[in-house]
Amino acid sequence: MSDASTDPVILTTERLTLRPFDAARHLTPGYVAWLNDPEVVRYSEQRHKSHTLESCRAFTEGFDQGPSRLWAIERLEDGAHIGNIHADIDARNGLADVAVLIGDRDAWGHGYGLEAWNAVLGWLLTDGEIRKVVAGCMKSNVAMVRIMQKSAMSPDGERKAHFILDGQPEDIVFCAKFRAG
Ligand SMILES: CC(C)(COP(=O)(O)OP(=O)(O)OC[C@H]1O[C@@H](n2cnc3c(N)ncnc32)[C@H](O)[C@@H]1OP(=O)(O)O)[C@@H](O)C(=O)NCCC(=O)NCCS
Repeated sequence: MSDASTDPVILTTERLTLRPFDAARHLTPGYVAWLNDPEVVRYSEQRHKSHTLESCRAFTEGFDQGPSRLWAIERLEDGAHIGNIHADIDARNGLADVAVLIGDRDAWGHGYGLEAWNAVLGWLLTDGEIRKVVAGCMKSNVAMVRIMQKSAMSPDGERKAHFILDGQPEDIVFCAKFRAG
């Protein structure tokens, strides 16, 4: 019998397809290069690490058995893999912690991050049977803060001076969105 919590889920938006991450298709040197690009990981703790195909494979394989999910973000127009989005799922508490990475910097600022984000939050809070979606980012990550605001998430706390960014203490802010009703 299939377990619905691990059934593959493909999400389609106006300009994107979010497909379950498939190593054969998506685990590429280009993906590894995103994580080794200091601009891309500027606000992420990934900035302290050096990434390889092997380290990325270890991360992506962690999603193979569910219930957490990792989607590759593909642009419909040209099929390009422009980023990834994942939901760490705590099924017992009905919680999902979501993070997005648009790795192709040429694709920044076109609304793809928000589009993927809304698709995943929408699915999690309906068919995904999640009660509360949470996310967090450094306060200076203006684009990510905007995505959390524009997806109608609410403030869910913050940690003062939690990380060091460019030698200065940096707050981390959290947001949440609850299932309707
Ligand atoms: C953060 C990130 C996902 C944003 O994705 P994106 O596709 O470029 O963002 P969008 O185009 O959907 O823009 C969302 C909002 O942020 C704003 N924005 C985008 N880039 C911005 C920038 N560099 N500075 C300020 N605001 C920015 C947009 O204007 C938009 O707000 P608006 O509609 O009010 O104008 C992307 O930059 C990224 O993946 N960065 C690296 C990884 C990361 O930081 N992930 C977040 C941690 S979970």
